[in-house]
Amino acid sequence: MKKMKLSASLMCADILNLGSELQKLETSGIDYVHIDVMDGHFVPNLMLSPRLVDLTRTACRLPYDYHLMVERPENIIPTFRLRPGDVVSVHAESTVHLQRAAAMIKATGATAAAALNPATPLEFLRDILPDIGMVLIMTVNPGFAGQKLVPQTLDKIKRCRAMLDSLGFNDISIQADGNCSFENIPKMLKAGADNFVVGSSSLFDPAYTIKTAAEKLRGLEIN
Ligand code: DX5
Ligand code: ZN
Repeated sequence: MKKMKLSASLMCADILNLGSELQKLETSGIDYVHIDVMDGHFVPNLMLSPRLVDLTRTACRLPYDYHLMVERPENIIPTFRLRPGDVVSVHAESTVHLQRAAAMIKATGATAAAALNPATPLEFLRDILPDIGMVLIMTVNPGFAGQKLVPQTLDKIKRCRAMLDSLGFNDISIQADGNCSFENIPKMLKAGADNFVVGSSSLFDPAYTIKTAAEKLRGLEIN
């Protein structure tokens, strides 16, 4: 059983106080900072430019988990200052050069990951598996925070885990991204996800502080 990883969605943090938010993430036992990069083409939204992201790294020592929701990500990967320990997810739908993009990411020492939108079949992953350390399963349609879980994605997580294990890729982790709420995470855990993008549905829920929300999330782990 893989240890549950929490990846805080920076786009859901208090943007006017990013420095102090990042420090709170560091001291709350969060594993990664999830960086949603959006170009207004692959998704109908614009988010988190390379320059802004690099500036935030001066305030936080946590590894970054980049989620590239952009057309032709191979063109933007070189613009980020990636570090060993970082993860970079590229959408299988966003480039004809998925393996080239994964190789570029690995060359920096970061871990490459492949992401799928809710309706994209798992078969899109089969020939990139040797090059990745994580699969990102979108459990909402990408582009915006605050959306509701696409129900059939729970079964997709389960089938993804079964496919990875049956092909001998037991070490590839599965990240759920979208509406990872206190109610949904137990279902996602049961289905086989071990890494969760936590945003407005949980970690940044105004009913909690970052610290108390993180503690509540840790309590959901299947022991
Ligand atoms: C969706 C984003 C996520 C996430 C935000 O495109 O990639 O960061 O949905 O968290 P929630 O869904 O909880 O607002
Ligand atoms: Zn994301």
